[in-house]
Amino acid sequence: MINVIGLGYIGLPTALMMAAHGVEVVGTDYNKELVATLNAGKTTFKEDGLDDLFQDALKAGIKFTTEYQVTDTYIVSVPTPYDKFSKKVDACYVVAAVKDVMKVCPKGATVVIESTVSPGTIEKYVRPVIEENGFKIGEDINLVHAPERIIPGNMVYELLHNNRTIGADDKAIGEKVKKLYASFCQGDIVVTDIKTAEMTKVVENTFRAVNIAFANELAKICRHDNMDVYEIIRICNMHPRVNILQPGPGVGGHCISVDPWFLVGDYPSLANVINESMKTNDSMPDFVLERIYEIMKEKGLTDISRVGLYGLTYKENVDDMRESPTLQLLESQQRHLAPGLKVYDPFITSDVVDNQYHSLDSFLDAVDLVVIMVKHNEIKENMSKLADKVVLDCHNICDLDGVYHI
Ligand SMILES: NC(=O)c1ccc[n+]([C@@H]2O[C@H](COP(=O)([O-])OP(=O)(O)OC[C@H]3O[C@@H](n4cnc5c(N)ncnc54)[C@H](O)[C@@H]3O)[C@@H](O)[C@H]2O)c1
Repeated sequence: MINVIGLGYIGLPTALMMAAHGVEVVGTDYNKELVATLNAGKTTFKEDGLDDLFQDALKAGIKFTTEYQVTDTYIVSVPTPYDKFSKKVDACYVVAAVKDVMKVCPKGATVVIESTVSPGTIEKYVRPVIEENGFKIGEDINLVHAPERIIPGNMVYELLHNNRTIGADDKAIGEKVKKLYASFCQGDIVVTDIKTAEMTKVVENTFRAVNIAFANELAKICRHDNMDVYEIIRICNMHPRVNILQPGPGVGGHCISVDPWFLVGDYPSLANVINESMKTNDSMPDFVLERIYEIMKEKGLTDISRVGLYGLTYKENVDDMRESPTLQLLESQQRHLAPGLKVYDPFITSDVVDNQYHSLDSFLDAVDLVVIMVKHNEIKENMSKLADKVVLDCHNICDLDGVYHI
């Protein structure tokens, strides 16, 4: 039996996928409300294909509980934020979860850390917890790192198809855990050592962050000298060895806006490009705010409370708001003591910020300037409703005349 610890954006689909593929799974989360929701037959977030997968897993007998189980394999999928001051990974959730696993796990058990951690974290923080509990790693407890790579919005497909990395001290244990993931994963599964697996996952997200930062920096340069960044990127990308990403209003989520900081925190004198890239990405919400004021001036608009931000989530067609550029922009605006912007997101049904609307039409009635912060399908399908508005399109998706860009 597998005990998946942490049933959030990563743990839940992983647990469901394993159960739906014939593995006996119990999912554990210390959030009672979340466990009650799952036990009431409801999923806890929106994701394509998640509800069907949930039904398959229920039929296969998956269980949800707040209790840690006595079993032979644990998969730990708890948050790994970064410390805002040191930028280093904050391993406190992982350490707490492993401590609780140690209270129940029998000798011979395998502990798989799925959470993303910086290189050396498992050595520094997880091994001591296991040893303090009197277990000898490699003899009494096997320790494995299996970082997750899926992207919200396409999680179910990517769980099935992405390649994976398994890090283990002992190749045979790595191969055993590989078999477990191969119960559902159709991608290649590479077995390596733990530190390489840790570094690989962080580097992948850092690669993305740096490339996004490059596009964002180009957008700023082009804005400064009145050049069309989208046309320039389009032409550059016709070069056979150039593939520039698109600029945007910032970076959010629990991965690309977080994990690269781990390298800055751990290697402050070496991670220069990464540090500057993260700063560039983090500066984008403020850059959008400046654009809003510039455009208002140009259009003779004086009432900031008639400016509306479309989208609260960190990316399109998901309900995850963590570190979202819109939240960063609102925070920045509050620091400037400016009155509230209006906000609307079709994926966020509860009230999470001031001046939030719950229907596109009432939101549009309340604003003169619409800022497209997130490219949800809904706005793409309703672009004609923006025809009489001033539009700041942060994703270059609007083909109406007179649209402004970042
Ligand atoms: N969200 C993503 O897109 C994504 C993608 C790849 C990797 N990851 C990594 O996966 C890990 C999990 O991220 P997430 O997005 O699923 O986080 P999350 O916040 O959505 O879920 C974590 C869950 O763990 C539970 N939890 C925390 N400590 C616990 C404990 N000690 N015992 C039991 N339950 C506990 C929380 O209640 C929560 O439900 C992180 O390391 C993250 O970096 C996330």
